[in-house]
Amino acid sequence: MLNFDFYSPARILFGKGEEKQVGELLKPCAKKVLLHYGGGSIKKSGLYHIVVESLHKNKDPDVELGGVKPNPRLSLVHEGIELCKKENVDLILAVGGGSAIDSAKAIAMGVYYDGDVWEVYEQGKAIEKALPVAIILTIPAAGSEGSGDTVITNESKQLKYGYGSPHLRPLFSIMNPEYFYTLPPNQIANGVADMMSHIFERYFTNTINVGLTDSLCEAVLKTIINNAPAALANPKNYEAWCEVGFSGTVAHNGLLGMGRQEDWACHNMEHELSALYDVAHGAGLAVLTPAWMKYVYKDNIQMFVQFAVNVMGVEGSFREPEAIIEEGIARLKSFFKRMGLPATLSELGIDESKLELMAKKATGAEFGHEFGIGGLKKLNWQDVLAIYESVK
Ligand code: NZQ
Ligand code: ZN
Repeated sequence: MLNFDFYSPARILFGKGEEKQVGELLKPCAKKVLLHYGGGSIKKSGLYHIVVESLHKNKDPDVELGGVKPNPRLSLVHEGIELCKKENVDLILAVGGGSAIDSAKAIAMGVYYDGDVWEVYEQGKAIEKALPVAIILTIPAAGSEGSGDTVITNESKQLKYGYGSPHLRPLFSIMNPEYFYTLPPNQIANGVADMMSHIFERYFTNTINVGLTDSLCEAVLKTIINNAPAALANPKNYEAWCEVGFSGTVAHNGLLGMGRQEDWACHNMEHELSALYDVAHGAGLAVLTPAWMKYVYKDNIQMFVQFAVNVMGVEGSFREPEAIIEEGIARLKSFFKRMGLPATLSELGIDESKLELMAKKATGAEFGHEFGIGGLKKLNWQDVLAIYESVK
C-alpha cells in the first residue's frame, strides 16, 4: 500500500424530505445565495419550488442563474462570476447533477480569481479561496457532491479539463433519492456508467497489498450492478435508488483510491469525445471502458482475473486466465447493453475523422509535450488511437 493523505469532508444529508431544510441549513452561512441549476428538470419535478420556499418562505431566491448544459460551458461560468460579484453573493446553491455542481464550483473560485478562471483549469494553478457551494443532487453519477473536483468545457477552444482543490469541497450535499424518479432511462444509464468508471479508475492498479480497498471497490461495483437494473426497470424503486445513489458518492469521494496508484486513462480519453462532440460523459465511458480493458489487461493479468471473478462472477479454470478475463469483459459489455448504453463511437455520432486528433489531445502530443495517460499502463497517442479504432 502506498502512503496517502485522506481528507474527504462532505456532509451528506440523505433521504426523503431532507431538501426541505435547505433554507434552515443556509441561514447561518449566507446573506445572499445564488441558485444555480440546469435546463429545467428541477422545475418539472417541483424541486425548484420546494427549494425556493425553504430558502425564502416562498419568495424568489436572492439571485438565480439557470441554463447549465451537460458538459458545462465556460461562457456561463463567466456570466455567473460577474453576477456573483455584482450582487455580492456569498454562497452558491447548485441544484442538479454534475454539470450544475461543477459550474457552481467554477463560479465559486472564479469570484476570487484574479484573471480568467480557465487558467486554473489549463495550468492547474492552486487557488486560495472560493465561495462556499452547497448542493441538492438530482442525478447520481458524477460524484461531484462529495468531491473537490470540477470539470468544465471551454467551448471556444473545444477543450474539457478537470481541476480539484480542497477549497471546492461542498459545504453540504442533500440527496433525496425520490428526485431520481424523473430521470430518463439514458441519463440513468449514463450515471451508472460514470460511477462505475470512477471505481474502475481506482480499482485497476499495479499497486499490491491493497486488499481493503480492493474489497471496497468490488462491493460498491456489485451494489451498482445489482441495483441499477431495478432502478431502470422501475424508476420509482426508492430502495434501489438509495443503493445506487449512495454508491455514486462513495465511488468518487476518494476513499476507494487510497494507497493505490490510480489510472484515469478512460476519463482522459472520454473528455476528448465530450469536448469535440458534446457526448454524455457516461455514454462515452461505456464505449471506451471495455475497449481499454481489452487493450491493457495483458499488463496485469492477475488484476483482471480478480475483477472477472470477484465482480462479474466468472467461474473457470485458472489455467486459462485470459478466457476468464475475456468473459468478465463480455459480461460488463452485456451489463452496459442491458442498461441501454452504446458500445461503439458511431452510436455516439463520432466518425473516424478526428480520432487521431483526439488521441493526440488526450495525451498532450497535440500540444508538443506528450505525457501519456494511465497508471496501470501508460498510453501514448498511438495506444489511444488504437483503443478508439477498436470501437469505431
Ligand atoms: O439540465 P437539467 O434540465 O437539470 O437536465 C439534466 C441534464 O439534461 C438531466 N437531469 C438531472 N437530474 C434530473 C434530470 N432529468 C430529469 N430528472 C432529474 N432528476 O440529466 C442531464 C445530465 O445532467 P448532468 O448534470 O450533465 O449529469 P451528470 O451528473 O452525469 O454530470 C456530468 C458532468 O459531470 C462531470 C462530467 O464530465 C460531466 O461534465 N464530472 C464531474 C466530476 C466531478 N466534478 O468530480 C467527475 C466525473 O468524472 C465527471 O467527469
Ligand atoms: Zn466521470
